[in-house]
Amino acid sequence: MTSILTIVGARPQFIKAFAVSKELQSTHNETIVHTGQHYDEELSDVFFEELGIPEPDYNLDIGSDSHGRQTAAMLEGIEEIIETEEPDIVLLYGDTNSTLAGAIAASKIDPVVAHVEAGLRSYNREMPEEINRVLTDHASDLLFPPSESAADTLEQEGITEGVHVVGDVMYDAILWARDVAETESDVLERVGIEEGDFILSTVHRAGNTDDPDRLESIVDALSNAPFPVVLPVHPRTENRLREYGMWERATSELEVIDPVGYLDFVRLIDASERVATDSGGVQKEAFYLDTPCVTMRDETEWIETMESGWNVLVGADREQIEKELRVNRYLEEKPTPYGDGTAAEAIVAVLTEYIGEKRMEAVEDA
Ligand code: UD1
Ligand code: UDP
Repeated sequence: MTSILTIVGARPQFIKAFAVSKELQSTHNETIVHTGQHYDEELSDVFFEELGIPEPDYNLDIGSDSHGRQTAAMLEGIEEIIETEEPDIVLLYGDTNSTLAGAIAASKIDPVVAHVEAGLRSYNREMPEEINRVLTDHASDLLFPPSESAADTLEQEGITEGVHVVGDVMYDAILWARDVAETESDVLERVGIEEGDFILSTVHRAGNTDDPDRLESIVDALSNAPFPVVLPVHPRTENRLREYGMWERATSELEVIDPVGYLDFVRLIDASERVATDSGGVQKEAFYLDTPCVTMRDETEWIETMESGWNVLVGADREQIEKELRVNRYLEEKPTPYGDGTAAEAIVAVLTEYIGEKRMEAVEDA
């Protein structure tokens, strides 16, 4: 049985790992490490509980800190676990500091390093995630780009071995969640909103939250939206809104709520008239659920969502945001660039085959 060490730490990684863990559990021995990058109940525990993800075998409890200190503490903890567990594979997701720490720790020891969501680029080196992605891809043995264009990007960077286009694991997750959310979530009633009658927004990218001008422009634009705006607020954003003196305005103009669990959030995307976000995952989820998206960033890694007009980039430009929240969109049929919802199965098949081949080679060499 192949032993897999899964590294997660931040909200979107719990959702991605959920999709893959479901496939791994019956056939492989999976050990889950939670770095503790996210630790608030609504950013962490809620996902384990509602998605039935097994309790992490290890929680490093690293918490929040500067990038260097946070990543260094994770690196130290993950290295120790790899030495104890001696996994065949270390499985990494996305582009957070937890991903990078896993990549550095694992690539310097024995295990195979596998990266889910490889090959994505914003080409904006100011983004901490861009550094994490590039370094993780270049330290990985197995790379799982979600689309052909992500694989092309890897090729342009000289990475051609171990690349398997499998589709997007978040698509797998949402196909499962959409119907469950529709029957089980009562979030619309709790928030007091009607289907099709509100805009759902999330903001948490450092480039927006840590720049008072950009954050103010976003709050101004959302305050002027043609529908009520529901904003499940990330703690980072709440902290900055308070610090910059914008909290009162935001809470009086917008329907600011605490972050919600995955099923509630999927229900909100599905029921909203439009989504306005700077999240990577939420752009894709809106695309999967046929909800037009306005992306409050200057670039996106998920370029295919824009090609068919379902997603538009508006930066933090107040006028652009306001315009795109109002304009009628005549949307063409959506392409399906991110697979067919069986990415997890494909990943597990590749991992199994790869380890099988490595073991055969070891036997032949002995
Ligand atoms: C991180 C990821 C980002 C991802 C996001 C998902 C990096 C560099 N960034 O951003 O790519 O999109 O997670 O949500 O890895 N905080 C709390 N409670 C928590 C966690 C954080 O209050 O449970 C606050 C702290 O003030 C902390 C701040 O949020 O300093 C930022 O947290 P951090 O994990 O560093 O980055 P995110 O912005 O969450
Ligand atoms: N999400 C959630 N509750 C919320 C906001 C987001 O469950 O209140 C989920 C969302 O469905 C998506 C993921 O969190 O799957 C996206 O995480 P986030 O936007 O924090 O990070 P990113 O995708 O930008 O890295």
